[in-house]
Amino acid sequence: MEPSLFELWETSLDPATTKHYEGAFAQGSGYLHIRGSYEEGLLAAGQDEEYMRLPANVTIEKPRHPRSKWGTYVPGVTGNHPLLREELVNLPNPLVFRVAADGEALDMDACRIKGYSRSLCLRNGVLTREFLWDTASGAVIACRYERFVSQKRRSLIVQRMTYSVVSGKSILHFTSDIDEKVKTNGYNHFAETEKDSAGCRTQVRVKTDNNDTIWLASTALGKGIRFQETENHTLESETSLQEGESIFVLKLSAVCTSRDQEGGAGFDKLAAELALPEDSWKMLFQENQNEWESLWEQAEIQIEGDEEAQRAVNFSIYHLLRSASQTDDRIAVCAKGFAGEAYFGHFFWDTELYLLPFFLYNFPATAKNLTAFRLRTLEGAKQNARAYGYSGARYPWESSVSGSEQCPNWQYADNEVHVTADVIFGIWHYYEATGDKTFLFDAAPVFTETARYWLDRVEYRDDGSIHLNGVMGPDEYICFCNDSAYTNSMVKFALERTLEVLGMLEQERPEAYRALGVSQDFLDQVALVSEKLPVLTRDDGTILQCEGFEQFEEPHFERFWPDRSKHFGACVSQERNYRVKALKQADVLMLPYLFPAKFSEEDIRKAMAYYLPYTTHDSSLSAIIHSILFARLGDRVQAMEFFRRGLDIDLDSSAGGAAEGIHIANCGGIWQAVVFGFAGMLPAYESKTPSFSPNLPDGWKSLSFRIVCQGRKYRITIRGTQAETEEIQ
Ligand code: BGC
Repeated sequence: MEPSLFELWETSLDPATTKHYEGAFAQGSGYLHIRGSYEEGLLAAGQDEEYMRLPANVTIEKPRHPRSKWGTYVPGVTGNHPLLREELVNLPNPLVFRVAADGEALDMDACRIKGYSRSLCLRNGVLTREFLWDTASGAVIACRYERFVSQKRRSLIVQRMTYSVVSGKSILHFTSDIDEKVKTNGYNHFAETEKDSAGCRTQVRVKTDNNDTIWLASTALGKGIRFQETENHTLESETSLQEGESIFVLKLSAVCTSRDQEGGAGFDKLAAELALPEDSWKMLFQENQNEWESLWEQAEIQIEGDEEAQRAVNFSIYHLLRSASQTDDRIAVCAKGFAGEAYFGHFFWDTELYLLPFFLYNFPATAKNLTAFRLRTLEGAKQNARAYGYSGARYPWESSVSGSEQCPNWQYADNEVHVTADVIFGIWHYYEATGDKTFLFDAAPVFTETARYWLDRVEYRDDGSIHLNGVMGPDEYICFCNDSAYTNSMVKFALERTLEVLGMLEQERPEAYRALGVSQDFLDQVALVSEKLPVLTRDDGTILQCEGFEQFEEPHFERFWPDRSKHFGACVSQERNYRVKALKQADVLMLPYLFPAKFSEEDIRKAMAYYLPYTTHDSSLSAIIHSILFARLGDRVQAMEFFRRGLDIDLDSSAGGAAEGIHIANCGGIWQAVVFGFAGMLPAYESKTPSFSPNLPDGWKSLSFRIVCQGRKYRITIRGTQAETEEIQ
């Protein structure tokens, strides 16, 4: 059977890729996320091992748990790790469902399994596993596992297990459990754990070492069988099946936390949510499907003529749809899309630069939540500025839920200050795409406080020049430099917008303006710094990444980086890396990507010619930017090559794929590569009405998608170099 364009398949049992599929098959509802692990786990892959994970560079480290890593995450629920700092906590695993046939426990490694397959339907988020179990006692059992996190009841996990005896007969013993002995990055974050059973439900309450309380409850129901509570608070049942007979079990699990905004929390709440009859699958399935359909109706991109790209784009959109909360503005999307523990659940500039556009032009209300996260965390940013000895607000490189710095490595925490300007860029983009001036005005303190920080942070030299020293740009392989072109450009942008917002506020809401307490001196200073901050150039006019960039040593890739399947960063010491011209990711080239109208084709070509040979693309944030730029230049071959590199990042299991979580920034980048790259759409801050200059890759007969801009909805259809824009209801 030809797999549908909305399915991701795993067709063989390969121990080397189990973990990749756990990430790729992650399911979620914005509120709750689970990794794609087996219901019964793997005997050989215990989940309770404790160890001290060091805050090494995530790009180059070798993670523990090579075989399997369970994950259950509620964004915003965190713990405190002594080295990694605040981290997203892996919650007790409510998926656990074990089965034994005539005493033989099902295990994908140890048992005789035939015809194995798993597929994730991207259209409705349902994960299905099917196989024949050739049991030791001689029975052959067809097993089918289906599950989803309901997009309608966002805290509910629905599982259905079906066992059909194909030949022989068997006594099946079932155990449903919630495993509370899980660790996060090898650390036990549960300060309190309570487990019991009541009314045929397994119940677990844990309190994290960051004071979040989480309640989980599960129930298991089956036609003709009854589950009983055991001393260990598991639910168990047994049944005898003859050849040709089947049985199904419905397991429902619900989660709530002390952070929930509505309806209180506790076991009573969960009991009410789980009070559903045993034949509820169909109803729950349908309501979940309906919710997903309405999301896809807006977000779908149709590519005619390239099924491989279509499938991969669908995969990225699926993860974007699942990862952001539609209702909660107290969280953003963490770097691994809540599908793994790398990067510890922290929030990066990835939100503003890579993720926001997908939401802005599809789901402005969700984009508003993501943007409002920075308004909510302004206080944390102010404390962060104070901690570093500055006035104003300095957004953290890796943000906690409350906005404090959580980056465990000093280089990035101290130097990667561009995030503070990126936050302003995100707010401004939101405003330009939606016209939501109320929100913009509400964000005025973010503009003024971040501006205060910049005024304090720059160096004023006696010759009247102004500089921003000791920073790290997006290229994290130059860890400390002066006058980073990207950083300075974004700071200039942020300061100019600050003056613009304040001007509008003074006119339209004089009282709110006065309440901000900005003086003429402050305004003059903002204007001066935004004007004087330099963006250095090379002799040929190309933007220079930072002062002295040309004096860094040549990286000699041919000598130090012979095996290109590895990251450059994994082949050389950090000491060498930091003194050579190797770039981790797009840096100067972020500028023409962000501001297409400001750069001529000639500018882009020259910058590409200089920087690309030095760029390692060690970061997953790099390839897709190059795809966009090549598409804008009309170089369809290179645009496609970089696009495919982007598509492979989560899908190519041989390079690790999604094992440690989804590279969600890249997923957002893939959407941008289609819309800003191949379709050539100008961002709203450069064109208020949708404007396209398409450059479709060879073989793409047509491309169509919807966008929302300034409250209006459009259907875009592109054929060749022609774009048709139709306003819809
Ligand atoms: C990249 C950063 C990015 C972070 C999280 C790093 O490898 O260099 O730009 O923000 O990953 O995705």
